[in-house]
This record gives sequence, structure tokens and C-alpha cells, in this order.
Amino acid sequence: MINPTVQQLLAPYKGILAADESTKTIEKRLMAYGLQSTEEIKQAYRKMLFTTPDIEKYINGIILYKDSLNFIPLLNQKGIIAGIKVDEGLESFNDFEEQVTKGLDGLSERLDEYKNLGARFTKWRAVIKISDLYPSDAFLEENLSRMAKYAKLVQEKEMTPIVEPEILLDGNHTTTRCENITTKTLKKLFELLNREGVDLSNLLLKTSMVLPGKDSGVTVMPLEVSNTTLRTLKNSIPSNLPGIVFLSGGQTPDQAINNLNEIVKLNLNKSFGPWDISFSYSRALQNDALATWIGKEENTADAQDIFGKRLQMVSKARMGEL
Ligand code: G3H
Repeated sequence: MINPTVQQLLAPYKGILAADESTKTIEKRLMAYGLQSTEEIKQAYRKMLFTTPDIEKYINGIILYKDSLNFIPLLNQKGIIAGIKVDEGLESFNDFEEQVTKGLDGLSERLDEYKNLGARFTKWRAVIKISDLYPSDAFLEENLSRMAKYAKLVQEKEMTPIVEPEILLDGNHTTTRCENITTKTLKKLFELLNREGVDLSNLLLKTSMVLPGKDSGVTVMPLEVSNTTLRTLKNSIPSNLPGIVFLSGGQTPDQAINNLNEIVKLNLNKSFGPWDISFSYSRALQNDALATWIGKEENTADAQDIFGKRLQMVSKARMGEL
């Protein structure tokens, strides 16, 4: 039986907003508009997003960062489930160029704390960069086994883990190389999840679409993205996983939404796999809203209007109805 939190996160027409930008990432996003990343501005920005009228019609889960857990009661009032990013960023792997995700130290205590504050699900992100040499087998093994250990621990605390092995869009690789690396990564991940005894009925996979590197100069249309992505998932994901949510990964908002729409549409008859498919976007939903808001109270209504329109579109795309 599918876990109730997973079931709720996969409700029709709804998806997950990733608002879990780490201190460094949110600083980068705000700085792009000349804004200082103070606690006050971060709080005001997130409040603008979370109080958008009707947000709960399209979003049923929001992933927070530890600096914004004070919003949990507000989200709960709206019937939105709060999640939290629990990894602690990247560290060098064996002094090589590759970077693995850290955060297992003290994770058990942090999970207890977050659960007490009302978080019901968690996220752990690993970053996989494609180049001619990388990712190495040893790196995948280490990075994904940490991810599997995290997932097991979260389930032991009776919360729902999201596992996010993000294959970066950076680079000039081909779609075929992305497909091969994604397949290898996901197969390894599910092998390690299985080895840890992770219960797939209480797990969500957050993954990237299969795309050529952004410096490859190649443009792909949604139908091709959907075919390649679904074929890759079919070849690497067990059928008893309840759901897959995509990240936007630096695609433009329109690309991320149109590609999702095509992926969902192509799998409406479940010919690639029985999993439910939804979204967990950050940049594709937030970018235009931030560009309109730029830290000014008087821009709140316009920014919320733009954010709300994106939410309406992605909600339709999540059903293949765009
Ligand atoms: O870790 C990345 C976020 O959860 C998803 O962000 O949609 O901007 O790729 P994105």
C-alpha cells in the first residue's frame, strides 16, 4: 500500500514546490537582482511565494530549507505538506574533481527536530556532472550509497524521503550520453536502496529529464525529450515505485513545463511504467516571480500573479492537459 504522504504528494493537478535553496544558492539568486541575502529579505521573498492566492490548488508539498521552517504552520493551514532538504551540500570526493553529498553526520537528531516541527517529508540531492571522464564508478557508488542510507534513516523516523540524483545540464554531452549516465545512475541507486532495505512504497524519486548538455548547441523538442526520458526511466526504475517528480534543472520555465506535459501525455496509458509523474520545480516556477518582485513590497501582487500563472500551467502539464 502506498504511504499516505506519498499519495498526497502525488494528488492530481498538484505538485511540489522546491523552495529549499541553500544559503549559498538563495544568495546567488537574490544577488542576480542586486538584493542582499539577509534573513529579512529571504523571509519576505518566501512569504510572497507561499501566500500567493490559491497556491494550495496547485501545490501540495513545499520543500523548505532549515532557515524557513517557521513557515510550516502557514503551509499546514493551507493543507500543504512541509518537507525539508536535509543534505548539507557537497564535499570533495577522494581529492578528485567529483563532489559527493554530505550530511549523514547528526542526521538522525536533525530529523527528530524537523519532525517535531511538523515536516513530513525530506529531500537529499546528489549532483552528477557529465564529462568525458565522469562520473566515475567509485563516485557513483559512494554518493548513491549515502543517499540510500539517508532514505533508510528517514523511513525509520516515519517520514517520506525524496531521493534526488540530479544529472546536471552543464556540459556539451549528447542526449545519448545523458541517457546512458542517467540509466547507470538510476540502476545503481535502486540497487543500493534495495540493499539498504528501503521501502519503495514510501519513496519519491526526483530526477532530471534526459537532455543534451546545454553547451552542446542541440535543441530538442518536447516529443523527443519525452520519448528519451520515458525510455530511460522504463529501463532503470522498478515498477513498484509510486511516483517520479521532475526537477527543472536550468531549463527555461516554458521548456520545463512543456516537456513535463509531453512526458505525462506520452505515459497516460502507462506504457512506459505505472508510476505517477509530477513536478518538484524551483527555478522554473520561481524565476519570473523573483524577477518581478525584486525585493519591493509594492511588487508583491504582480509577482504573485506571475507565480500563480506558472502554477496553473504546471498543474495542467502535470496532467498532460496543456
Ligand atoms: O535541487 C534542486 C531543486 O530541488 C530543483 O530545482 O527545479 O531549479 O532544478 P530546479
